[in-house]
Amino acid sequence: MKIFITGGAGQLGYDLIKELTKRGFNDYLAPTIDELDITNLSELKKVITDYNPDVIYHLAAYTAVDKAEENKELCYKINVSGTENICTCAKLTNSKVVYISTDYVFQGNKDGIYDVLDEPNPVNYYGYTKYLGEECVKKLKDYLIVRISWVFGINGNNFIKTMLRLASEKDELSVVSDQIGSPTYTKDLARLLVDMIETKKTGIYHATNEGYTSWYEFAKYIFDESNIKIKLNGIKTSEYKTLAKRPLNSRLSKDKLDEENLLRLPSWQDATKRFLEELKEEK
Ligand SMILES: NC(=O)c1ccc[n+]([C@@H]2O[C@H](COP(=O)([O-])OP(=O)(O)OC[C@H]3O[C@@H](n4cnc5c(N)ncnc54)[C@H](OP(=O)(O)O)[C@@H]3O)[C@@H](O)[C@H]2O)c1
Repeated sequence: MKIFITGGAGQLGYDLIKELTKRGFNDYLAPTIDELDITNLSELKKVITDYNPDVIYHLAAYTAVDKAEENKELCYKINVSGTENICTCAKLTNSKVVYISTDYVFQGNKDGIYDVLDEPNPVNYYGYTKYLGEECVKKLKDYLIVRISWVFGINGNNFIKTMLRLASEKDELSVVSDQIGSPTYTKDLARLLVDMIETKKTGIYHATNEGYTSWYEFAKYIFDESNIKIKLNGIKTSEYKTLAKRPLNSRLSKDKLDEENLLRLPSWQDATKRFLEELKEEK
């Protein structure tokens, strides 16, 4: 199977490539942004038609959620026009597209857990562009849309690394306690993303580590597991101003994974423990 990857140098891309290689998928092409910019359609067409992949994992995105509110043009260009370009190429080569999306396609005001079939209503500009990307991918014959949330992995900046850094600089921290969702460890997600193409799945999925928590509880768990003593205060979203709005309810239903006989990801606590080990090994 020939696999083309965008965003291979990013947080998720790093673990996806490791997982693919581990499982014997060695025929892949993962150009960096310097080698190939997805907003350049003519170059993209040339590279993708030459390579002729069976599957395109489309991970590349403008991911600076707050900055996106001020840099709308660039965010749109990468997340919407870039994804349209990927779809144009996928049609030429008849490739399956695996598009990674986000909980931010939802407003976060639902009483219950978000199902894959719930109508999106993006909470911020980044979420809006990711939603437009979904709409484009949905027009393809063979696609997967995988919505994820609260991502952490060794090859990127994320909440766990930020908490550990802040704890080394301060002895008191305030963390939002009224946003509920699920962390997603890129190593665990990579396993599922490869399972999905092996078993030729299609359609929309939600994939995160199991269990729901708040950022405050997540931070508390990180500090407890790391034996870090710090005064931790839970605060409300309204007390923590950000340029982009965040959803209060990011709970995503993973029932479709069971229905399609796909293995769920381990609990977020288990994932966090393993990530902290991975961080230690890296040092
Ligand atoms: N991180 C999260 O919490 C989260 C949550 C939900 C969904 N997602 C989605 O998950 C996917 C992977 O996220 P991630 O955390 O791995 O993101 P990431 O670390 O920011 O990686 C994104 C990659 O895309 C590349 N890229 C950006 N613009 C590009 C362009 N025009 N052409 C080619 N490559 C380009 C970036 O290169 P440079 O770094 O050199 O710019 C980077 O290597 C994204 O689609 C994101 O929307 C992420």
